[in-house]
Amino acid sequence: MSPRKRVAVLISGRGSNMTSLVEAARAPDFPAEIVLVLSNRPDAAGLATARAAGIEALALDHKTYTGREEFERALQATLEARRVEIVCLAGFMRLLTAWFVARWQGRMINIHPALLPSYKGLHTHERALADGVKIHGCTVHFVVPEMDAGPIIAQAAVPVLDADTPDSLGARVLAQEHVVYPLALRLVASGGTRIEDGRVRVADGAERPALVSPFFPA
Ligand code: GAR
Repeated sequence: MSPRKRVAVLISGRGSNMTSLVEAARAPDFPAEIVLVLSNRPDAAGLATARAAGIEALALDHKTYTGREEFERALQATLEARRVEIVCLAGFMRLLTAWFVARWQGRMINIHPALLPSYKGLHTHERALADGVKIHGCTVHFVVPEMDAGPIIAQAAVPVLDADTPDSLGARVLAQEHVVYPLALRLVASGGTRIEDGRVRVADGAERPALVSPFFPA
């Protein structure tokens, strides 16, 4: 097996997706190891979770930097010092500049709680309910300068039920985020993806986590 890719997970809060990546990376055949968890918010609950799992966890408080660029230069230096090869954004609620994104082109992925390109931005579950869509879900994609755009690696779909609230729908989506993000990282870290004309192509023989479609509840 080729050496495991060194991954940093960037968070801003709870870190449940980070935990799903950490747990997946415990498998001996997982092609990536989580070497660093980093938050732009010192109070992010996920930092303690990561430390409890034995992973280095750091806060770089964006408020202590004079601007976005200075913050990102510190972030970049921290990632380089740990020889990070892949960055996973997992509830990292800070826009990244084109400068930083360019440095991680094809090596930085994000999870978004909607079936992109629908429902970019915030409050995705509320908006999906308001529109009356019957299927909702989540997306893992490569990061490009435009927010919540970028080549799609994997998606998971869930049903929207009549009785749903934003919380109940969000919980159903989140359960699938925890499935699809590790699948997508496994695929990317194993070199199973290439980007062609803005779309992700999966290598022959690689696992294809293109769609996780949980059964429709009775
Ligand atoms: C997740 O639902 C993730 O998809 C979302 O924030 C939540 C973080 O939860 N990300 C975004 O909205 C990014 N635009 P977590 O901290 O428990 O992983």
